[in-house]
Amino acid sequence: MDAPVAPPKVEVDASHRYGSLTVHEELKFRVNANEFVCICGPSGCGKTTLLDMLAGILVPSSGHVLIDGMSANPKKQSISFVFQEPSTFPWLTVAENVATGLKIKGVPAATIRSKVADIIGIVGLTGFEDYYPHQISGGMKQRVAIARAFATEADLVLMDEPFVSLDQPTREHMQREVLDIWRRMKRTVIFVTHNLEEAVYLADRVLILSAKPARIVAELPITLQHPRDPLSAEFTEIRSKCVRWLHATH
Ligand SMILES: Nc1ncnc2c1ncn2[C@@H]1O[C@H](COP(=O)(O)OP(=O)(O)OP(=O)(O)O)[C@@H](O)[C@H]1O
Ligand SMILES: [Mg+2]
Repeated sequence: MDAPVAPPKVEVDASHRYGSLTVHEELKFRVNANEFVCICGPSGCGKTTLLDMLAGILVPSSGHVLIDGMSANPKKQSISFVFQEPSTFPWLTVAENVATGLKIKGVPAATIRSKVADIIGIVGLTGFEDYYPHQISGGMKQRVAIARAFATEADLVLMDEPFVSLDQPTREHMQREVLDIWRRMKRTVIFVTHNLEEAVYLADRVLILSAKPARIVAELPITLQHPRDPLSAEFTEIRSKCVRWLHATH
């Protein structure tokens, strides 16, 4: 008899309506464990709605959203969310912010201290542990949010246009940092962006959604080695392919 096949990390086969507005129509895809998937699609097509379903905050009108073969449920799975705007707790220091998910899980204090120190080092905030969010820049706050998301043993890290408010050099720096953390910490990441260059730079696979009612119109695997060079011929070719698919959705 064949050994049982492990379910994919994420399996979506869902339709969703807000009242009479159909946002997703048989939206279907899978994500493997440790995969980095970028999702692109026209504004208002339902990307944030999809992340809400993956976080278990929203139940689809029909179909299912499964994580490790079980319905997405924030009480059962550990799912981290990084929002477009940096979201830090203003009354906690940098280190306390990063530690929140671990504290909720009841991780012993000594383990929390060493994990927090490690990840603060990875995101380049060593020396700022005792600062409060109002004492650091927007880019640094976003690094705190990313550190918090990866510090917890999250099953899934969901990121909703996390770098949209950053200037280009900071954005590029953060992209390299996220890739570095992802490679070291082995997490499954679903990352929404409007920026196709960002998607091709980061992802193992890019999913392009159509306008509402959204479905997947293209799935583009990206096998270029990291670090990727956005000026290389291969990169430009894949990016152009994504652009053509995205334009076709309008
Ligand atoms: N709670 C809600 N109640 C009713 N309609 C909603 C709700 N949330 C979102 N919508 C509608 O669902 C559609 C998809 O919204 P969503 O925020 O998921 O889009 P998006 O792809 O994330 O857009 P953007 O790229 O602009 O962030 C929009 O038409 C929006 O108005
Ligand atoms: Mg959105």
